[in-house]
Amino acid sequence: MKIISSIDELRDQMRGQLRTAFVPTMGNLHEGHLSLMRLARKHGDPVVASIFVNRLQFGPNEDFDKYPRTFQADVEKLEKEGVYVLFAPTEKDLYPEPQEYRVRPPDDLGNILEGEFRPGFFTGVTTVVLKLFSCVQPRVAVFGKKDYQQLMIVRNMAKQFALPTEIIAAETYRAEDGLALSSRNGYLSPEERAEAPKLYQLLNDVANEVRSGHLDIFELERNAMARLAERGWKPDYISIRKRADLQPPSAGDLAKGEQLVVVAAAKLGTTRLIDNLEI
Ligand code: PAF
Repeated sequence: MKIISSIDELRDQMRGQLRTAFVPTMGNLHEGHLSLMRLARKHGDPVVASIFVNRLQFGPNEDFDKYPRTFQADVEKLEKEGVYVLFAPTEKDLYPEPQEYRVRPPDDLGNILEGEFRPGFFTGVTTVVLKLFSCVQPRVAVFGKKDYQQLMIVRNMAKQFALPTEIIAAETYRAEDGLALSSRNGYLSPEERAEAPKLYQLLNDVANEVRSGHLDIFELERNAMARLAERGWKPDYISIRKRADLQPPSAGDLAKGEQLVVVAAAKLGTTRLIDNLEI
């Protein structure tokens, strides 16, 4: 595997490659990321991964400085997956001057749910993803469904800018007890790690209620938030939304069987976890 940090060198290396499959990451790789690499391999060749902890998508009080950086271990994992190039730019490589041009998702998608609690987050994500796409020039790129809203925003961006990159969605990779794998799980104490799968159990409960015909969405959301709070969590939101645009479903949408997803974000101790489940 070639490890490349400069954009020019990456361009030289990738010249003439028409079927590149790309997996952007922020490192601290776990089985969830590796499952994205395997899916990428099914959709293209060669596979390029990136590791870049993108300051633009972190708020001033978020965990940019303490975000886990495990470069050597990540390299070993990617080598085993047969990744062809690891693009690992420094901040100077990717942002040699202040990144003044940014991609701002529309408010009705970028400022709801995660965007409401993490202002500017999605602008940071889309800006870096567009820039990484411009460097790697992939034919396909793989994003996990765990970050459901991110996946939708990136997909819409690719469509609206007519990018030559197809966005592939990967199923969420879960531990045996149901917890969605995430780099931030490493922040959990043993007690919190034991409690963490409750979030996914609750999403299943909500989904089952909807499936069995309980369509008072607000009541379901309120009860679910209360149940988490009783267990000591601090929920930001548990929300039942339309899969198509992440807007709340109207009574008419519910009546005609609109496809739904329940999305959630909650703090356990100081660790903020997100998860979702398609209903
Ligand atoms: O999902 C992530 O790890 C990041 O948001 C991404 C897509 C690599 C952009 O920094």
